Amino acid sequence: MTGISTDLIHSSESNYIDVTPPINITTTYKYSDDPEKLVKAVDRTGPDYFHNDNWTYSRLTHQNSELIENLLESLLEGKVVVYNSGLAAFNAALTHINPKTVIIGQAYHGCHAILEIWKRNFDLKVLDINVLDNFEKLQPGDLVHLETPVNPLGTSFDIEFYAKKAHEKGALLMVDATFAPPPLQRPFNHGADLIMHSATKYFGGHSDLLAGLLVTKDEEVRQKLFYDRLLLGTNIGNLESSLLVRSLKTYELRILRQSDNCTKLVAYLNSNKEKFPNLKEVFHSSLQSDEYIKTQLSGHSPTFSITLQSEDLAKRFPSKLKYFYHATSLGGVESLIEWRAISDPTVDTALLRVSVGVENVEDLIDDFTQALTSS
Ligand SMILES: Cc1ncc(COP(=O)(O)O)c(C=O)c1O
Repeated sequence: MTGISTDLIHSSESNYIDVTPPINITTTYKYSDDPEKLVKAVDRTGPDYFHNDNWTYSRLTHQNSELIENLLESLLEGKVVVYNSGLAAFNAALTHINPKTVIIGQAYHGCHAILEIWKRNFDLKVLDINVLDNFEKLQPGDLVHLETPVNPLGTSFDIEFYAKKAHEKGALLMVDATFAPPPLQRPFNHGADLIMHSATKYFGGHSDLLAGLLVTKDEEVRQKLFYDRLLLGTNIGNLESSLLVRSLKTYELRILRQSDNCTKLVAYLNSNKEKFPNLKEVFHSSLQSDEYIKTQLSGHSPTFSITLQSEDLAKRFPSKLKYFYHATSLGGVESLIEWRAISDPTVDTALLRVSVGVENVEDLIDDFTQALTSS
């Protein structure tokens, strides 16, 4: 077996002489000139007919969306379906599973907002993961959705525990693993049935594309997800997928560097709290002492959060930093910080989310030091 970087760089080689796979912007493809090769819609063998040489229309599938799905199979240890955003992937999972009840806890506010639509349209029941009695209400075919590490804190939950709780009732466990993609975390090893990623974040890595992924071990599930996507029009765009293929070549370098930078910055802040009276709390899985952390994570998320002593201090803090853009999102090579109250109505208004990039960590530490000690 080849390593992650070798695989992601060399598995995109094709019959073209281009070193970088070409950007295909076409939405439609010419049918064969040979009338014998023309197939009526009623005679097609299934949705997978549209793969390989049978590309017809880019909403269904196209060269670079297929390339991404093939490239990521080995890293994600499953069959991959790519989408035009992380939320499109989440909605696709709900559409496929069609649960009557979803159990969910702290998670990206957009996922909660999609569940509100499902409550409104389909009478879906949404229950709190923190109330253990709620697991008794699960029926076969229901869904437990676990985001770990969780947005915005970067702290982790025990996948194995929730997998067991879901499976006891015949329900499925989906893990949103956006904050710690492999090699940091491998949710299938701990009992997840379906894995979701916003590939906009670490896989994209340059803050210039939107994408989502679902990963399954089951070929039949992949085919159904693919067919739904084809009809719902949520395939990744052509240009975005070319950007994503580019990004994957440096993925391993970036994720390891970002994880290492973040863990060092968190350790520095946490162990120097007495020097920074404005700093109240630091949140990150590297500060958790739970036993499962050791087996579940082989590296920590490059995103963490802090709270300051007041909302006003938090609001003013981003403008004191030199190397952290004040912006939403995460996962890019450039460090970001966000006064999270701007985009998430559910959080402590003194909370700042930090996405650590690939800059030199000493500069990031110096930057935080000057910002925390300036008046
Ligand atoms: C954990 C998590 N899941 C899902 C999403 C949604 O992804 P996208 O913005 O690609 O739709 C985000 C976005 O921030 C996220 O942080």
